[in-house]
Amino acid sequence: MRPNRTAAIEREGRVAETPTPPAQLAARIIARCNARQPADLLLRQTLARRRALTPDQAAWISRAVFAYFRWQHWLDSNQTLEERVESALGLAQRFSAGEGWPSDAELVEKAIPSWVAEERIANAAWVRSLQKDPVLWLRARPSSAAVLMQAFGPEALVPGPLPDSFRYSGSSDLFVTSEFQEGLFEIQDIASQAVGHVCSPRPGEVWWDACAGEGGKTLHLAAMMEGKGLVWASDRAAWRLDRLKQRAARAHCFNHRRVEWDGGVEPPTQTEFDGVLVDAPCSGMGTWGRNPHARWTTTPTDVHELAAIQRNLLRHAAPTLKSGGRLVYSVCTLSPAETTAIAEEFTALHPEFEPHPFANPFDLKADPAAALTFWPQDTGGNGMFVAVWERRLKAAPVTPTASA
Ligand SMILES: C[S@@+](CC[C@H](N)C(=O)[O-])C[C@H]1O[C@@H](n2cnc3c(N)ncnc32)[C@H](O)[C@@H]1O
Repeated sequence: MRPNRTAAIEREGRVAETPTPPAQLAARIIARCNARQPADLLLRQTLARRRALTPDQAAWISRAVFAYFRWQHWLDSNQTLEERVESALGLAQRFSAGEGWPSDAELVEKAIPSWVAEERIANAAWVRSLQKDPVLWLRARPSSAAVLMQAFGPEALVPGPLPDSFRYSGSSDLFVTSEFQEGLFEIQDIASQAVGHVCSPRPGEVWWDACAGEGGKTLHLAAMMEGKGLVWASDRAAWRLDRLKQRAARAHCFNHRRVEWDGGVEPPTQTEFDGVLVDAPCSGMGTWGRNPHARWTTTPTDVHELAAIQRNLLRHAAPTLKSGGRLVYSVCTLSPAETTAIAEEFTALHPEFEPHPFANPFDLKADPAAALTFWPQDTGGNGMFVAVWERRLKAAPVTPTASA
């Protein structure tokens, strides 16, 4: 008797697989995408289940889904979804051939939602950068660069513009490499790496990464501190901190402490910090190149609701700084409401903080500025806004003088 293969597979916790052509799988994913089920999440889930797919097929499906959302307003809605996927890949190829197509005006009209153009955030160079395949950036653990170069080779790994940064263009699944498992590198966008360099914590200091998430920046700060001192890592999402715990173990990062914090007025500790990073939740417009589906699900209401959260997070985190301590605000978005407006309002409402000019990590010769936007077209990474303040000396407590 033939064994019941489906039942056996289900007992093993795997999905029974009938081979689905990649174009059909891409179309199925696209059809299920919505604001609650973003394309990147559905792709991760689907590709993790479809273990029979080769790495090349998996990469093709990701490319196809993302190409669809980059080019969807050029596609013919009379075609089937599968046909549109093929057309989108054709348009992506035409664009990368650099024939000067489409014009700037057409790009701004079709590649981003109209509300962005209306808010005057859009510039053609930014929108053009959103239509390209994104760069995969790595951050090497300090002193691991040579080992990584040896392992991946100069074809796949090219040094990037920041210390320990690399641009990866190989085809291996990096997550399964022994170098990744041994914590020799992190996959981290170059603009996120730049935030670590803006913070530039010193060994022995105590920092708070207030919206640490899964710890991309916590691990960077802790590494810059050479394992000396402490980074408090907080987030409202316990599951994200659990992931941070696993990542930190892999990265041999021991100088950090995880704690839940809901962003409320009560800080997670009475510690006074040398530095606080508020890498706040945001509308993520800076990631629209990497994650084009998000262009079509983000709304102006999101922007304004998130701005209110950002304002509160900064206000609640700020009092925990020591005199002379630095407060760093970063968001991977570009809307004025979440970037310059938040920074200007904080400066106006907090005279105890002074805007603190810092060097642009991508251009150390440029004049320091207290707030900067890193644009994708300039850095090859996500769009990111960073602002820094220094806490002025706290007034000494008034002690009553004895009367003569
Ligand atoms: C931009 S992500 C952080 C990314 C992270 N710093 C990194 O580099 O990997 C923003 C984080 O803020 C957290 N968050 C959202 N609302 C919050 C709140 N009210 N209080 C604290 N954290 C919050 C989210 O759970 C999310 O992990």
